[in-house]
Amino acid sequence: MKIYVKFLLVSLGLFGIFMLSGCSKEPAAVLTKSGLNPADFQTDSTALYVLRNSQGMEVCITNYGGRIVSVMVPDKQDSLRDVVLGFDNVASYYPENNKSDFGASIGRYANRIDHGRFTLGDSTYQLTINNGPHSLHGGTTGWQYKVYKANQIDSTKLELTLVSPDGDNGYPGTVTAKVVYTLTEDNAIDIQMSATTDKPTIVNMTNHAYFNLNGDPNVPITNNLLYINAKQYTPVDSTFMTLGNIDLVAGTPFDFNTATEIGARINDDNEQLHNGNGYDHNWVLSTNQAIDQLAASVVSPITGIKLEVFTDQPGLQVYVGNFLDGTVTGKHGIAYQQRTALCLEPQVYPDSPNKKDLAGWYDPTVTPDKPYSHHLIYKFSVEK
Ligand code: BGC
Repeated sequence: MKIYVKFLLVSLGLFGIFMLSGCSKEPAAVLTKSGLNPADFQTDSTALYVLRNSQGMEVCITNYGGRIVSVMVPDKQDSLRDVVLGFDNVASYYPENNKSDFGASIGRYANRIDHGRFTLGDSTYQLTINNGPHSLHGGTTGWQYKVYKANQIDSTKLELTLVSPDGDNGYPGTVTAKVVYTLTEDNAIDIQMSATTDKPTIVNMTNHAYFNLNGDPNVPITNNLLYINAKQYTPVDSTFMTLGNIDLVAGTPFDFNTATEIGARINDDNEQLHNGNGYDHNWVLSTNQAIDQLAASVVSPITGIKLEVFTDQPGLQVYVGNFLDGTVTGKHGIAYQQRTALCLEPQVYPDSPNKKDLAGWYDPTVTPDKPYSHHLIYKFSVEK
């Protein structure tokens, strides 16, 4: 009898060990609707933060670069679709693995600064150069590669904070920046960006989500209908640098005042389309910097998913993924091909620090007495 009990205990013990070792080989539980595993974003300083509303929408954000990693929204069949490009682990966002701006919160200065140089008061500053002869999106180690301090306020709100030291990528002044993401009950991602500084500097923050409203990054976005509330845009040279002039869109492939397929005119023989390798330009919004005026909208004819953009900034850079070329592989092992996403990046016009005195341009200087703020809303709905 005793021997029988011992045998039973040993067998139970072995069974337990077998079960445990079996379990440890199983993939860790996937806790998000997008299929992302928060464990793949967990390091000493980074994590994946999940925002959800009662409509079923879910947004995953990592504090590495303040990046929106996934956005699950309902399509016209009421199925949830992920409508942004990105990676399924934090290491893929590191610059040594992929130089990308996917989903990032951009700073200190969005877009290009001519040869990375600008003058404030009596001083001329030289920024790091990372795009041809220019400085783009904050320079070689812009905020898309920094770890923000995260504070998840509740299930719909995440606050990120970053201190950018004096001299960061060549910029003067210590800047404390905040980005607050709120997922609202009407399926909008509300982004409040703000920054203070201890001495005069320049700030131009934006979001760099790559949207594919087809809900499938294998399908190009050239079939999407784009509307831009703008009568003018800022043309560029062959290095993508703004020329300083502000031109009318009327009668050109840049007129999206009537919603038009992105691909309809993109291959027209037009100098600006050649210079931009497609659409990669700043539109001068007709919204008077009013957050309640629609700046732009995009709709996928496949899913019916519609994105509306609201901003209190004067310009909107529209970039349609012209440089994606299949060499970067993202979530679900999909290689991102040309024009399989578009970015809608509200901001002050590119290279404003060097053009602020020209007619129609804005001064992006921020001082201890004049802090920076930008309110941006990406609102989703469905056209059935
Ligand atoms: C720029 C593009 C650039 C892209 C990189 C956009 O904001 O306009 O020229 O290639 O960012 O993410």
